[in-house]
Amino acid sequence: MTASRAAASAAGARAEIGRADGALIHVEDLWHTYMAGTPFAEAALRGVTMHVYPGEVVGVIGHTGSGKSTLIQYLNGLLRPARGRVVVAGHEVGRSNAGIEAVRRLVGVAFQDPEDQVFEPLVGDDVAYGPRQLGLAAEELRARVRWAMEAVGLPFDAFKDRYTYTLSGGELRKTALAGVLAMRPQVLVLDEPTSGLDPATRLDVRERLLALRRRDGLTLVLVSHDMDEIAGLADRVYVLHAGAVVASGPPREVFARPDALAPYGLLPPFPTQVCVRLRARGIPVRGDALTIEEAGAAIAAALREAR
Ligand SMILES: Nc1ncnc2c1ncn2[C@@H]1O[C@H](COP(=O)(O)OP(=O)(O)OP(=O)(O)O)[C@@H](O)[C@H]1O
Ligand SMILES: [Mg+2]
Repeated sequence: MTASRAAASAAGARAEIGRADGALIHVEDLWHTYMAGTPFAEAALRGVTMHVYPGEVVGVIGHTGSGKSTLIQYLNGLLRPARGRVVVAGHEVGRSNAGIEAVRRLVGVAFQDPEDQVFEPLVGDDVAYGPRQLGLAAEELRARVRWAMEAVGLPFDAFKDRYTYTLSGGELRKTALAGVLAMRPQVLVLDEPTSGLDPATRLDVRERLLALRRRDGLTLVLVSHDMDEIAGLADRVYVLHAGAVVASGPPREVFARPDALAPYGLLPPFPTQVCVRLRARGIPVRGDALTIEEAGAAIAAALREAR
């Protein structure tokens, strides 16, 4: 990152701190160094400021190694800030364990690799693992597990007694997701929730996430390499590069800004690219279409004009 860009990003971060009233999660000037104090020390987060408001879907994008997975491990206290602050619903995530239980109940994180999250031999037991620690009565526990499995598209009766080692990659991912959902978090943080899924399952998971937000008021933080997914789901997006936030805002604004993506090795959603290329060839379509539907409508309108 250039010095001027870093300065602009720092100024943006400072401005945002003042505007964060009502945020459910505050991340302010957060730094993270892996293997600190050794010759292998590597700064993975450099002064990240980010806010998540109740009920919104926040996208986190950035190329490989930009710090996305590191950042989200701070959102439920898996990592504790050594430099910077993380506050979740008024609970400061600090070195002490005060409030950490509350933070873990409020914020559920589904890791990038479901293998890291699924331990039990049977699917039903794995999904029940977290809520069982809450000391729920057997009937309530079963109802929660059923609800969480159905919510992610794993029919309870067909899957509860399946051995987890027999699951497909997509089914394993859904099992990990159901295990997090079964804790009934207020905020669901998903690291690449649809990677490795076929297009139809991807759309299905996307619809299910939107339904959870609509019906249950769930707040979502979504890490993804899939710009079409982010365009279709997120209300706001943060672009990470080398551990710093280099752009943020509604996807329509961020994806239409050539300086917000290209320098960081990212491409806008496919429909946006098509419209931008048509415009470059003198065809008057809007340059900020995000979805296939919007691009289709824009192109149809341009064709009608041309007749
Ligand atoms: N456990 C670790 N020990 C040392 N360095 C690490 C560790 N985990 C991550 N890193 C380094 O920190 C940086 C950020 O990694 P991180 O996993 O947060 O990136 P990411 O944006 O999630 O990448 P990806 O898109 O590939 O998942 C990378 O340079 C990575 O090599
Ligand atoms: Mg990652």
